[in-house]
Amino acid sequence: MPSFTQDSDLDLLFSTDLISSEVKSQLHPDLHLRPLASTDYHRGHLDVLRVLTIVNDPGEQCWLSQFNALRSTPRTYYTVVIVDKPTDKIVAVGTVFIERKFLRGLGSVGHIEDIAVDKNQQGKKLGLRIIQALTYVSENSGCYKTILNCSEANIPFYEKCGYQKKESEMAKYA
Ligand code: ACO
Repeated sequence: MPSFTQDSDLDLLFSTDLISSEVKSQLHPDLHLRPLASTDYHRGHLDVLRVLTIVNDPGEQCWLSQFNALRSTPRTYYTVVIVDKPTDKIVAVGTVFIERKFLRGLGSVGHIEDIAVDKNQQGKKLGLRIIQALTYVSENSGCYKTILNCSEANIPFYEKCGYQKKESEMAKYA
């Protein structure tokens, strides 16, 4: 996939109406913010996630099945990517999923997950733009709060994004 593909030519995970134009306008002209697309397997989606953790390649068909499973649950999964236009490769990624509750007047909470910026692009505010874009999705989906778990080392980054430390994380791995 050599040249940049316009949003209108892509099969996207969700509507571009939920992509903040303000965040888009703050990116370098060579960079483009949009929802994950069904062909992003070929744009290095998994390679970018590898800066975060171990990622096994399930193959294109299984990747696409997962994409379709996320999309078939309406108003729940929102993955955004930043694409480098000259190479048409993904350089940053992040997800917010919307949890619907019975409390707080049937309120919703946005959970931010799997934030990753390509090693060569770190320190250029792309992580900040991804968090701003996901917070916009969460708040414009009616969430009363947006939360995430992170390492101690990443706390200063999330503070720069306007988040505050609150409570503790518990985990039990299977
Ligand atoms: N410690 C202190 N400050 C930091 C750190 C850090 N670890 N990382 C970024 N910052 C600061 C930057 O200096 C910048 O400050 P400034 O506005 O004063 O200049 C501000 O935070 C914004 O930084 P960005 O340039 O947007 O950061 P970047 O694009 O490098 O993205 C990220 C940060 C996502 C942590 C990236 O380095 C990365 O992908 N790391 C590896 C994967 C990872 O740890 N992901 C987060 C997991 S937690 C989760 O997914 C919910």
